Amino acid sequence: MSRPLVVLGVTGGIAAYKSADLIRRLRDQDLDVQVIATSSALKFVGETTFAALSAKPVITDIWDQAHNVEHVQLAKSADTIVVAPATADFLAHLVYGFANDALLATLLVAKCPVILCPAMHTEMWDNAATRENVATLRKRGYLVLEPGVGHLTGEDQGVGRLPEPIEIARVVKQVINRKSAELPKDLSGFNVLISAGGTRESIDPIRFIGNRASGKQGVALAISALSRGAKVTLVGANLTVPIPAGVEFISANSTHEMSEVMQLRAASNDVVIMNAAVADYYVKNPTDKKIKKNTNQLNLVLEETEDILSTLGKKRTSKQYLVGFAAETVSNSDELISMAMEKLTRKNVDLIIANSVSEHQGIGTDDNQAILVTHKTTINLPKSDKLTLADGIWDFIVKDLAKVA
Ligand code: CTP
Repeated sequence: MSRPLVVLGVTGGIAAYKSADLIRRLRDQDLDVQVIATSSALKFVGETTFAALSAKPVITDIWDQAHNVEHVQLAKSADTIVVAPATADFLAHLVYGFANDALLATLLVAKCPVILCPAMHTEMWDNAATRENVATLRKRGYLVLEPGVGHLTGEDQGVGRLPEPIEIARVVKQVINRKSAELPKDLSGFNVLISAGGTRESIDPIRFIGNRASGKQGVALAISALSRGAKVTLVGANLTVPIPAGVEFISANSTHEMSEVMQLRAASNDVVIMNAAVADYYVKNPTDKKIKKNTNQLNLVLEETEDILSTLGKKRTSKQYLVGFAAETVSNSDELISMAMEKLTRKNVDLIIANSVSEHQGIGTDDNQAILVTHKTTINLPKSDKLTLADGIWDFIVKDLAKVA
């Protein structure tokens, strides 16, 4: 069997020297690499280096192979395209659909997943133009990795470093595995509504009460449901991960906003999952002006928020499958299961996905494990990355749905 093909686009930034290492890391993962280097990239690293490491001639000019229409051929045969480093200038060109070099032309034809790894000076990354360009590209489904923090060119330090090649290679491999995973299309025809992230409650214009949720597990559930053919609506509160291409995304950052959106949308969905970590209390009197430090004690009055899942549980129809989470700080699984059972009944849901959490486990981390608890059964899903866990959760829901129907 031929190895998956990664097209590595290299654009003209100092981090281009790390692309040489990235080629190594990708090939270590059993991936074929075809480099497309822009003319600016070649001012930083020689073509020979890329060619030797990738064991393929480097594509540098859109006119080189005009008779083969190379950008079309390559875009069609690539399993994924990764651009590392992606400069601010390149991102701007991509947003506007320019196709005046081999890399941009290839990207304009491509239908495979595309991973962009920006690297630039902090000021360029923070510039409103770049921020908007990144947001636009994410909305279009490009996976844009966050740059790292540390040494930039010369003396300067800050956000803008290319993520480590080994980390980029890991993401590329994950994207390729996902693409080739033979997931059944057993959710086609289903509408799925998922909340993700963590709600925040305002204290004053610059402060809030929040939690450590990242949105990774909810987003993984959305990606998994999409891969199985569902129409997915994702309601996100303060997500720290990119919004997956193909979902309808609605932002709801406070508990009140989330409650309104979930209640409005729930009725038209077959499966509703409340994955978001919802604030249990809100500040009764948030101030319009910044609270000054003029007393040695500050009392905030907190009032209970609405329990969104319980409200959804009251309004649900018997045809709708309703899922909640229970993240608990417990010492053993019996305790976890009994807490989940209590929530299952109190909130009138079909399934509680329970996990034991601490500062370093479950919330905000990349891995997770869970116990699925219904009135009839409990199932342990072992520790894995959140996408694998999401696949396991959907495997269970699809089977249980069939029983409920
Ligand atoms: N939930 C919700 N609205 C809230 C609080 C929680 O919809 N105001 C949902 C969560 O999204 C999750 C489930 O309820 O799916 C359980 O949340 P959790 O915080 O574990 O439970 P609580 O009901 O808040 O109870 P406690 O904090 O006492 O464990």
